[in-house]
Amino acid sequence: MKYILTTKKKNKKFKALITAGPTREYIDPVRFITNRSSGKQGYEIAKSFRDNGFETTLISGQTNLDPLSGLNFVKVETAQEMFDQTIKNLPADVAVFTAAVADYKVTNYENKKIKKKENLNLYLEKNIDILSNISKHNYLRPKLTIGFAAETNNLIKNSLKKLEEKNCDWIVANDVSNNSIGFDSDENQISIFYRDKEKENLKKMSKSLIASELVDRVIKTLN
Ligand code: CTP
Repeated sequence: MKYILTTKKKNKKFKALITAGPTREYIDPVRFITNRSSGKQGYEIAKSFRDNGFETTLISGQTNLDPLSGLNFVKVETAQEMFDQTIKNLPADVAVFTAAVADYKVTNYENKKIKKKENLNLYLEKNIDILSNISKHNYLRPKLTIGFAAETNNLIKNSLKKLEEKNCDWIVANDVSNNSIGFDSDENQISIFYRDKEKENLKKMSKSLIASELVDRVIKTLN
C-alpha cells in the first residue's frame, strides 16, 4: 500500500532517469579510452527506483553487468551518445547522474585502424558535461537533479564545488581512493551534500542498500 501512495503523482507514476557506467572515447575503430567504473552503484539505484514503482530509464555505458528488465534500458558507448539518449528520455521527476563520463574525447580520430608507429600523438578536447547541461536546461531540468562525485582527495571541498558549479540539488560523494569501497566493490560509503541543508554521512554498506537509502530520500522529497 505504501508503495502505491508514495510513488504516484496524481494518477501518474513518477519518472526517474539514471546514467551509469563508463563511457568510451574512440581513437580508431578498435581502440578507445575509458575508465574503471563498474556501473554497479548506478544499476542498484535504477533497480531501487523500478522496485519502488517509478517509471525508470537506465542509460548505461558498456559494463559487465546483465541488462535490467522492467525498465527502459538504453546501452550507449560514448559521452555524446549518453547525452543524446538523456535528452531523448527526459523529462523526468528525478535524474541521478552516476556515470563516469570520460572527461575528454579524441579529436584526431582515425576511421581506419591505426598502424603501429614509433610515436602517436592523441589530441583530446573536453567532452560535453551531461549533468551540467541538463541541470542548467531551461525546461528539461528534473525537479530533483542529483550528481555524483568520485574523489581521491579534498572530498568535501570538491563536492561542494560540484554542487554549486553543476547546479545540482544533491551531490552524492564517495572516496574512490579506498579500494574496499567504490569502483568494482559491492560496498560503498557515501556522503550526501544537499543544496539547502547540512551534509549527511551514511555508513559503509552494500551498494544495493545505499541505493534504497537514496531512493527513500528521493521519495520523501518528491512527495
Ligand atoms: N558528469 C557528466 N558529464 C561529464 C562529466 C561528469 O554528466 N562529462 C557527471 C557525473 O556523472 C557526475 C558528476 O558529473 O554526476 C561529477 O563527475 P566527476 O567525474 O566526479 O567530475 P568531473 O566533472 O569529471 O570533474 P573532475 O574530473 O575534475 O573531478
